[in-house]
Amino acid sequence: MNKSNYTLAILKPDCYRKNLVGTIIDKILNAGFIIKKMKMIHLAKEEAEKFYEVHKRKDFYIELIKFMTSGPSFPMILEKENAIETFREFIGSTDPNKAAEGTIRKLYADNVRQNIVHGSDTEINAKREIQFFFNS
Ligand code: CMP
Repeated sequence: MNKSNYTLAILKPDCYRKNLVGTIIDKILNAGFIIKKMKMIHLAKEEAEKFYEVHKRKDFYIELIKFMTSGPSFPMILEKENAIETFREFIGSTDPNKAAEGTIRKLYADNVRQNIVHGSDTEINAKREIQFFFNS
């Protein structure tokens, strides 16, 4: 298994609240990603804190934890050649105002925190995040 062909995505609580889960999954599949694993989970505070521990000292950390524990999320393992980079291009910049036209965040995100979807940013993080949610 070449890990660089796998990434960890999360459809976030705002995605669920806006009834966009089906729409985003459809777009992910149409973009050629294979969903290898997926689940619905309501993150506990401790889990969100652990997942985002690299951001612990950032000024947005507390609000980020509140947001990520505010409703259901859908973590998934995606497979595609060069999945990490390709998925990040597909979802667009963290800040929807800076995201390219046609990307998921440009189309659907409200702001830099409530940005619909997460995608791993490096191979090391993808590995850690896949392990975190799926023990694999
Ligand atoms: P994500 O890709 O899940 O990785 C870290 C998250 O922190 C990011 O998406 C946003 O939800 C949030 N985030 C990053 N930067 C900011 C910021 N400047 N203000 C608020 N939230 C942020």
